[in-house]
Amino acid sequence: MQPVTMTVNGETRTAEAEGRTLLVDWLRDGLGLTGTHVGCDTSQCGACIVHVDGAPVKACTAFAAEFDGSEITTIEGLANPDGTLHAVQDAFRQYHGLQCGFCTPGMVMSAVALLKETPKPTEAQVRHALEGNICRCTGYHNIVKAVLAASGQAVTPVAAA
Ligand code: FES
Ligand code: FES
Repeated sequence: MQPVTMTVNGETRTAEAEGRTLLVDWLRDGLGLTGTHVGCDTSQCGACIVHVDGAPVKACTAFAAEFDGSEITTIEGLANPDGTLHAVQDAFRQYHGLQCGFCTPGMVMSAVALLKETPKPTEAQVRHALEGNICRCTGYHNIVKAVLAASGQAVTPVAAA
Protein backbone atom coordinates (compact mmCIF):
# COMPACT_ATOMS: atom_id res chain seq x y z
CA MET A 1 0.00 0.00 0.00
CA GLN A 2 1.12 3.52 -0.69
CA PRO A 3 -0.52 6.90 -0.12
CA VAL A 4 -1.98 8.43 -3.27
CA THR A 5 -2.93 12.10 -3.30
CA MET A 6 -5.18 13.88 -5.77
CA THR A 7 -7.18 17.07 -5.86
CA VAL A 8 -10.73 15.75 -5.78
CA ASN A 9 -13.58 18.19 -6.31
CA GLY A 10 -11.27 21.03 -5.37
CA GLU A 11 -9.87 19.48 -2.19
CA THR A 12 -6.57 17.71 -1.61
CA ARG A 13 -7.40 14.13 -0.68
CA THR A 14 -5.10 11.25 0.26
CA ALA A 15 -5.93 7.57 0.61
CA GLU A 16 -3.92 4.38 0.54
CA ALA A 17 -3.80 2.33 -2.65
CA GLU A 18 -2.18 -0.88 -3.78
CA GLY A 19 -0.65 -0.90 -7.22
CA ARG A 20 -3.73 -2.76 -8.46
CA THR A 21 -6.32 -0.46 -6.81
CA LEU A 22 -8.67 0.91 -9.43
CA LEU A 23 -9.41 4.62 -9.50
CA VAL A 24 -13.11 3.94 -8.97
CA ASP A 25 -12.40 1.86 -5.86
CA TRP A 26 -10.02 4.50 -4.54
CA LEU A 27 -12.79 7.09 -4.89
CA ARG A 28 -15.60 4.92 -3.53
CA ASP A 29 -13.83 2.93 -0.83
CA GLY A 30 -10.93 5.24 -0.05
CA LEU A 31 -12.77 8.55 -0.05
CA GLY A 32 -16.40 7.46 0.36
CA LEU A 33 -17.43 9.15 -2.88
CA THR A 34 -19.99 6.56 -3.93
CA GLY A 35 -21.69 8.73 -6.55
CA THR A 36 -19.37 7.18 -9.12
CA HIS A 37 -20.93 3.82 -9.96
CA VAL A 38 -19.61 0.47 -11.15
CA GLY A 39 -21.91 -1.15 -13.66
CA CYS A 40 -19.63 -3.56 -15.48
CA ASP A 41 -15.99 -3.21 -14.38
CA THR A 42 -14.95 -3.91 -17.97
CA SER A 43 -15.00 -0.45 -19.58
CA GLN A 44 -18.33 -0.96 -21.33
CA CYS A 45 -21.07 0.90 -19.46
CA GLY A 46 -19.64 4.30 -18.54
CA ALA A 47 -21.27 4.41 -15.08
CA CYS A 48 -17.82 5.05 -13.58
CA ILE A 49 -16.86 8.09 -15.65
CA VAL A 50 -15.07 10.89 -13.81
CA HIS A 51 -13.03 13.78 -15.14
CA VAL A 52 -9.26 13.55 -14.81
CA ASP A 53 -7.57 16.87 -15.48
CA GLY A 54 -10.75 17.87 -17.29
CA ALA A 55 -11.12 14.84 -19.54
CA PRO A 56 -13.63 11.99 -19.09
CA VAL A 57 -12.06 8.70 -17.94
CA LYS A 58 -13.63 5.33 -17.15
CA ALA A 59 -12.42 4.93 -13.59
CA CYS A 60 -12.98 1.15 -13.56
CA THR A 61 -10.13 0.58 -15.95
CA ALA A 62 -7.52 2.93 -14.54
CA PHE A 63 -5.19 2.39 -11.60
CA ALA A 64 -5.40 5.03 -8.88
CA ALA A 65 -1.63 5.22 -8.47
CA GLU A 66 -1.28 6.38 -12.08
CA PHE A 67 -3.19 9.52 -11.19
CA ASP A 68 -1.20 10.62 -8.18
CA GLY A 69 -1.17 14.44 -8.34
CA SER A 70 -4.09 14.66 -10.79
CA GLU A 71 -7.19 16.78 -10.55
CA ILE A 72 -10.38 14.74 -10.39
CA THR A 73 -13.99 15.82 -10.64
CA THR A 74 -16.72 13.38 -9.67
CA ILE A 75 -20.48 13.78 -9.78
CA GLU A 76 -20.33 15.04 -6.17
CA GLY A 77 -18.24 18.00 -7.33
CA LEU A 78 -20.53 19.26 -10.08
CA ALA A 79 -23.08 21.32 -8.17
CA ASN A 80 -22.58 25.07 -7.97
CA PRO A 81 -20.96 26.56 -4.85
CA ASP A 82 -24.38 27.77 -3.65
CA GLY A 83 -25.67 24.20 -3.72
CA THR A 84 -27.81 24.55 -6.84
CA LEU A 85 -27.52 21.83 -9.46
CA HIS A 86 -25.14 22.06 -12.39
CA ALA A 87 -27.05 22.93 -15.59
CA VAL A 88 -26.69 19.37 -16.89
CA GLN A 89 -27.94 17.86 -13.62
CA ASP A 90 -30.86 20.26 -13.65
CA ALA A 91 -31.74 19.39 -17.24
CA PHE A 92 -31.69 15.65 -16.41
CA ARG A 93 -34.14 16.41 -13.61
CA GLN A 94 -36.40 18.59 -15.75
CA TYR A 95 -36.44 16.33 -18.80
CA HIS A 96 -36.65 13.02 -16.95
CA GLY A 97 -33.22 11.93 -18.14
CA LEU A 98 -33.12 9.17 -15.54
CA GLN A 99 -35.18 6.24 -14.40
CA CYS A 100 -33.37 4.04 -11.86
CA GLY A 101 -30.48 6.53 -11.93
CA PHE A 102 -27.70 3.97 -12.00
CA CYS A 103 -26.16 5.23 -15.24
CA THR A 104 -26.83 8.88 -14.43
CA PRO A 105 -23.51 9.94 -12.85
CA GLY A 106 -21.59 8.65 -15.86
CA MET A 107 -24.09 10.10 -18.33
CA VAL A 108 -23.90 13.50 -16.67
CA MET A 109 -20.10 13.49 -16.54
CA SER A 110 -19.93 12.55 -20.25
CA ALA A 111 -22.44 15.25 -21.12
CA VAL A 112 -20.55 17.91 -19.16
CA ALA A 113 -17.35 16.96 -21.00
CA LEU A 114 -19.16 17.17 -24.34
CA LEU A 115 -20.62 20.61 -23.66
CA LYS A 116 -17.24 21.92 -22.60
CA GLU A 117 -15.84 21.00 -26.01
CA THR A 118 -19.01 21.56 -28.06
CA PRO A 119 -21.33 24.04 -26.35
CA LYS A 120 -24.16 23.64 -28.93
CA PRO A 121 -24.01 20.02 -30.10
CA THR A 122 -26.37 18.51 -32.65
CA GLU A 123 -28.48 15.55 -31.59
CA ALA A 124 -26.10 13.31 -33.55
CA GLN A 125 -23.11 14.73 -31.66
CA VAL A 126 -24.85 14.09 -28.33
CA ARG A 127 -25.61 10.49 -29.27
CA HIS A 128 -22.04 10.01 -30.45
CA ALA A 129 -20.60 11.49 -27.22
CA LEU A 130 -22.76 9.16 -25.12
CA GLU A 131 -22.03 5.99 -27.06
CA GLY A 132 -19.73 4.78 -24.26
CA ASN A 133 -22.55 5.08 -21.72
CA ILE A 134 -25.15 2.35 -21.37
CA CYS A 135 -28.55 2.90 -19.76
CA ARG A 136 -30.03 -0.43 -18.73
CA CYS A 137 -33.41 1.30 -18.35
CA THR A 138 -33.04 2.34 -22.03
CA GLY A 139 -34.01 5.93 -21.29
CA TYR A 140 -31.89 7.34 -24.08
CA HIS A 141 -34.50 9.57 -25.66
CA ASN A 142 -34.90 11.82 -22.63
CA ILE A 143 -31.19 11.70 -21.83
CA VAL A 144 -30.40 13.15 -25.26
CA LYS A 145 -33.18 15.70 -24.81
CA ALA A 146 -31.75 16.72 -21.43
CA VAL A 147 -28.28 17.26 -22.85
CA LEU A 148 -29.64 19.39 -25.69
CA ALA A 149 -31.69 21.40 -23.20
CA ALA A 150 -28.63 21.90 -20.98
CA SER A 151 -26.86 23.41 -23.98
CA GLY A 152 -29.60 26.03 -24.18
CA GLN A 153 -31.25 24.59 -27.29
CA ALA A 154 -35.00 24.30 -27.63
CA VAL A 155 -36.38 20.80 -27.14
CA THR A 156 -39.92 19.49 -27.04
CA PRO A 157 -41.16 19.64 -23.45
CA VAL A 158 -41.70 16.30 -21.75
CA ALA A 159 -45.41 15.41 -21.74
CA ALA A 160 -47.07 15.14 -18.34
CA ALA A 161 -47.52 11.55 -17.20
S1 FES B 1 -18.07 0.34 -14.57
FE1 FES B 1 -16.61 1.36 -15.75
S2 FES B 1 -17.35 1.26 -17.76
FE2 FES B 1 -18.77 0.09 -16.59
S1 FES C 1 -31.68 5.23 -15.66
FE1 FES C 1 -31.50 3.16 -15.09
S2 FES C 1 -29.65 2.59 -16.01
FE2 FES C 1 -30.04 4.49 -16.88
